[in-house]
Amino acid sequence: MQKFIVEGGSRLRGELPLQGSKNSALPIMAATLLCHGECVLENCPRLTDIYSASRILNCLGCRCTFSDNTAAVDSLSVDRTAVPEELMREMRSSIIFMGAILGRAGECTVSVPGGCELGPRPIDMHIAALRKMGIEIHETCGGILCRASSGRARGAKLSLAFPSVGATENIILCAVTADGETVINNAAREPEICDLCSFLRACGAEISGDGESRIIINGKEKLHGCRYRIMSDRIVGATYLAMTAATRGEIILTNACVPEMEPFLSVFEQTGCSIYTGENKIYMRCGTRLKAIPDRIRTMPHPGFPTDAQAVLMAALITAEGTSVFEENIFDCRYRHTDALVKMGADIQVLGKVAIIRGVPKLHGANVEATDLRGGAAMVSAALAAEGASEIRQICHIDRGYEKMEEAVSRLGGKMLRIG
Ligand code: EPU
Repeated sequence: MQKFIVEGGSRLRGELPLQGSKNSALPIMAATLLCHGECVLENCPRLTDIYSASRILNCLGCRCTFSDNTAAVDSLSVDRTAVPEELMREMRSSIIFMGAILGRAGECTVSVPGGCELGPRPIDMHIAALRKMGIEIHETCGGILCRASSGRARGAKLSLAFPSVGATENIILCAVTADGETVINNAAREPEICDLCSFLRACGAEISGDGESRIIINGKEKLHGCRYRIMSDRIVGATYLAMTAATRGEIILTNACVPEMEPFLSVFEQTGCSIYTGENKIYMRCGTRLKAIPDRIRTMPHPGFPTDAQAVLMAALITAEGTSVFEENIFDCRYRHTDALVKMGADIQVLGKVAIIRGVPKLHGANVEATDLRGGAAMVSAALAAEGASEIRQICHIDRGYEKMEEAVSRLGGKMLRIG
């Protein structure tokens, strides 16, 4: 089992190019199934979740290869429609292959997906929407058997009870080759949804309204391959900004998606950090102790403050002057990192969906275990700000979303090693 050893106390300082977005790359990789030809995906991050997606594609008959940060997927010879349970269990995103396989073949067999433990993560909205699109779905013990009664999904008018990212993606993936028009009301508006739609349009799909609450899709019989550059990862960007703030450092993020990171930048400005943005660049400097955020930080669907940045922002605010309050509204169980932060000296009180952070002047190193992807990143951030050494185990969670985090941190002057 690998682990990170972090020696705290160095200010992060330097320039860092931002990696491609995991949460864009995963649905786009699933979408390549719909293209009868080769897709070349640039800016594709090299992550364990991306390798899981490529294993699913290869198992369905695609040829998925990587060269540095470019992935090539040839889906001409897709000849299977079932994803084995062990591949489904590797990550939550495996569920979006359901819409893509249905879009390609009109039938699929999947099972309940795995992924980070953030509380119950049902797929009821995915299932209900696909049923409305003419898909017969039978749930057996763990297995989900799906088949379009007429061989092809049909367009439908859908309204989501909550703007679920995954359900919106699954519907889009099924609808782009469905018969007729699909309308999704209360669709998720996350930038990664727009990235998926831009990719699909480059492959010949007809989609409008992405980035807004109503998405309209006109089904096409077939899509073709294309070359596409995946957007940069706004959450990874938020993470390195948060680490820089936690260590009172200075950073230039390049290859950054500036407008998409706006909800995070405006919160960081309130802590006293100076932020300047240019085309694809963010400069941030934090010379003194951060100030607590006066207003409650409520995680919300985009364009609200992202749940994925809650843990890393918290790790920066635990040493801020004053009290900050978080309200987690997306997942039931997304404060699992707080025990580790408390072990490092933080003062955090969790009351249901609310977490109260009373800033402490300093932290100390500790031995902790990553609980999930973003929680693990928060622990690294706190360890970088702490006095002394920390050991972070279960880093497989961190590797799901961060490309060689120890190299990025070292490049910025932080002391972090991967052992084992
Ligand atoms: N939900 C339901 N029923 C459904 C679908 C969702 O009740 O059928 C609930 C979930 O249980 C959750 C909420 O709705 O409480 C939001 O879930 P959503 O479907 O929007 O999330 P997701 O598609 O499972 C994606 C990201 C997450 C990110 C969320 C919210 C990917 C691969 N994952 O998950 O990213 O937190 O959207 O923005 O895109 C991460 O990268 O660390 C991560 C967890």
